[in-house]
Amino acid sequence: MVCTDNDPQRIAALKAGVVPIFEAHLETLLNSNRRPRKLTFTSNAGEAVRAGDVIFICVGTPPLENGEADLSAIDNVARLIASEAGGSKLVVEKSTVPAKTGQQLKRVLDIYRRDGGIQFRVASNPEFLREGTAVQDFLHPDRIVLGVEDDTSEQQLREVYRPILEGRFRCPIHLGNCRAKQPSELLITTMNSAEIIKHASNSFLALKISYANMIADLCEKVGADIQEVTRAMGLDPRIGPQFLHAGLGFGGFCLPKDVQAFIRLAERSGVDFNLLKEAERINKRRIDVFLEKIRRALWVINGKCVGILGLAFKANTDDIRFAPSLEIIRSLLAEGARVRAYDQEAMDKIAALYPQIECTREPYDVVRDADALLILTEWEAFRHLDWERVHGLMSRPLVIDGRNLLDPTTMREKGFEYYGFGRPIENMDLRLTLSNAPKFSPTGASA
Ligand code: UDX
Repeated sequence: MVCTDNDPQRIAALKAGVVPIFEAHLETLLNSNRRPRKLTFTSNAGEAVRAGDVIFICVGTPPLENGEADLSAIDNVARLIASEAGGSKLVVEKSTVPAKTGQQLKRVLDIYRRDGGIQFRVASNPEFLREGTAVQDFLHPDRIVLGVEDDTSEQQLREVYRPILEGRFRCPIHLGNCRAKQPSELLITTMNSAEIIKHASNSFLALKISYANMIADLCEKVGADIQEVTRAMGLDPRIGPQFLHAGLGFGGFCLPKDVQAFIRLAERSGVDFNLLKEAERINKRRIDVFLEKIRRALWVINGKCVGILGLAFKANTDDIRFAPSLEIIRSLLAEGARVRAYDQEAMDKIAALYPQIECTREPYDVVRDADALLILTEWEAFRHLDWERVHGLMSRPLVIDGRNLLDPTTMREKGFEYYGFGRPIENMDLRLTLSNAPKFSPTGASA
């Protein structure tokens, strides 16, 4: 396999066996295939195009100002393939794109081809891997979706995926329990359906998260526990336990942009998808809800020292794109807080964006003399901190947990003032609601 990219530094790093992002197992996998030269890298895009019969397009499709997917990178690559190909090719979209992009891709390839004898076939093969578990998800996918327009394309792609489908991929890494998973399902469909499947899946996950977040707000008001509520809901196989974790909402480079692009696609197609707009609105409000918790607990933010644990948009990645931490840090700084932060992987990226915050080398430095500690990423290591030590270091032992990572009862037993999302008792909103409400005596008379 020959890989190319328009960033020469990225290619140089990969050639040297270095993965430029933090992703578990990726470097081992890279090097085990780089040395026998099964996997090579080049900055010469033409060379990469000519090398393969099947070409996967994996470029970014970031959001435009109006929320639509920016497809200019797909267009550029299509023109490049058309002009560089020395023979017929199957061109496969892996990037997340709106429905009907495949048809446009085919048009561009045909318009710009150098030689009328060269035939381009196109297919859609959306990728469902998650950051942090990318290797595991790729090698052991729940499903492989092939959107194809002809038998030859289907056969070629079946061949590409045969080792994964037959469980024959010789993986140099021990990937925990993933081998016990069910075999991957192969779905053959049209290109339009394959494109929709990706957007519809990510948007559904976003809906699920926003739904859980609204239940969390309700739990907070009535004194219920969101963790117990979603656990019970998730035991129903029709609902399932995943993506019901309440907190700061969905971030990262995929879910927010895919929801927006799906909404725009619906609008352009004359379909009223207000349901999704509402999920997006709920998600945007999560940061405000969290900031409000901080304001209520601290009263005045100006002059306070706020420690932050976790900056990445989720655990096990160094990615801070559309991470809740960005907006929260911006607001805290605007309100006059002194901010200290720690994340095991994402520190350099945040330091470059916010030079005015103090990035610490270890979690305990974040809490020294802090008036509040915020947890913004669910890194497992934070759960296992020496919380007695943390308590001793803080000016005020106040923890506001944006990921419901810690157990409220245990934290309160350790002497912390603790707030999560949708957790019972000593909850600020609930306290306010109850203190404003008339008190009732058992006889029915207002006390
Ligand atoms: C997502 C899709 O899951 C994946 O299939 C697709 O290929 C790429 O986009 P990823 O962006 O890596 O993957 O992250 P994901 O694990 O989906 O989480 C997205 C966001 O939702 C994160 O901010 C995460 O913290 C949040 N989330 C997730 C919740 O708030 N609650 C949950 O229960 C699950």
